[in-house]
Amino acid sequence: MSKKLYIKTYGCQMNVYDSERMAEAMGADGYVLTDTAENADMVLLNTCHIREKAAEKVYSDLGRLKPLKAARPDLKIGVAGCVAQAEGQEILRRMPLVDLVVGPQSYHRLPAMAKAAEAGQKTVDTDFPQEDKFDHLPDRPKAAIRPTAFLTVQEGCVCAFCVVPYTRGAEVSRPSARIMAEARGLVEKGVREITLLGQNVNAYHGAGPDGDWTLGRLVRELARIDGLERIRYTTSHPNDMADDLIAAHGEEAKLMPYLHLPVQSGSDRILKAMNRKHTAEQYLRLIERIRAARPDMMMSGDFIVGFPGETDADFQATMDLIRSVDYGMAYSFKYSARPGTPAAEKAPVPADVADERLQTLQALLTEQQRRAQAAMVGREVSVLFEKPGRLPGQMVGKSDYLHAVHVVTDAKPGDIGRVAITATAPNSLAGALVAGNAT
Ligand code: 5AD
Repeated sequence: MSKKLYIKTYGCQMNVYDSERMAEAMGADGYVLTDTAENADMVLLNTCHIREKAAEKVYSDLGRLKPLKAARPDLKIGVAGCVAQAEGQEILRRMPLVDLVVGPQSYHRLPAMAKAAEAGQKTVDTDFPQEDKFDHLPDRPKAAIRPTAFLTVQEGCVCAFCVVPYTRGAEVSRPSARIMAEARGLVEKGVREITLLGQNVNAYHGAGPDGDWTLGRLVRELARIDGLERIRYTTSHPNDMADDLIAAHGEEAKLMPYLHLPVQSGSDRILKAMNRKHTAEQYLRLIERIRAARPDMMMSGDFIVGFPGETDADFQATMDLIRSVDYGMAYSFKYSARPGTPAAEKAPVPADVADERLQTLQALLTEQQRRAQAAMVGREVSVLFEKPGRLPGQMVGKSDYLHAVHVVTDAKPGDIGRVAITATAPNSLAGALVAGNAT
């Protein structure tokens, strides 16, 4: 009899990838995925610690599981991910209903911990073990495969506001041969688009057969895999945008013209305090070089407003930078002090000031996104279809520029078609298949 596992994933794409790998590891022990906590034998919360709100949400979600656990004392509850790493034992103290706590570098040990939980024993594993967790996980089964997949290649980064160095550990890159093998395996199972993941993915420097590989090299080698049609990577740091990677954007048709390149702030003073080690001007020049290699590059970014010490002039510098770059898409956040990070020691910007700045900045970004989408109308893009849309006969997929596109078509998930864009909605586009069938 198979047991049922419910995984709730919070936060970043790396957590999405980790959840898939944990599901596979547990699958080898007879657990199948289910989509509600109510009928699960085990509930696993794969958590995010990036901002305070994300971490607090985990505790309130755990609180909500109390009646379920009271009704079914056999239900096992696990906390994985970055809150698990940051809080460790504290989670068991605050939430006695939890059976296991497993950090992001230890999840290959999850099946053993689940067995311990079944035997009534609570475990906490927040080690940074020497062994590579990815080597100790089973092959990825066919059932879990969609036309697009994430593939983690690198972890860790160093900004002064960020908890990632504390929750995911030192900066590491996986060896290139492992990544190539995993990518080939995914393609054999039907994956047509791979997004390489890392907190600082373009700092990738994994050991290869002929010395360390850069991300540019990895992209070029992946592009040679037959059947792999699209390559993306996220998230990049401006300081690590090497020439060979920029050149690859001009030369490798499989490398998609969408780049998530967060700058966080447009003020040099704030960038310095953030430990970003580049200026606003350097970032703007970098984007010029990227657009010289790939003129249609859709830029995306992340912004933090209200970083300690941010003045009105600093904020205006961020607004100016946004106007110069013209983003197709961007994420923005109010600064959230994270315990243990250097920035958390400094006096905060008053909450109402930060709130107002966030609103002003988001209005500008929303306007830019709206214009970028409107500019797609009348253009032809390629769409990788992923799943049925809401309306009958409709499929949804992603364009080269990562816009969600709705098309009425009999194309199947995994098909790629040329689509003429006819309309734009707040967060998606609509279009019609251009002559010929999707393949
Ligand atoms: N406060 C607010 N936003 C943060 N981010 C990371 N750490 C913090 C923090 N302490 C944002 C950054 C990053 C994105 C993933 O989350 O913009 O790029």
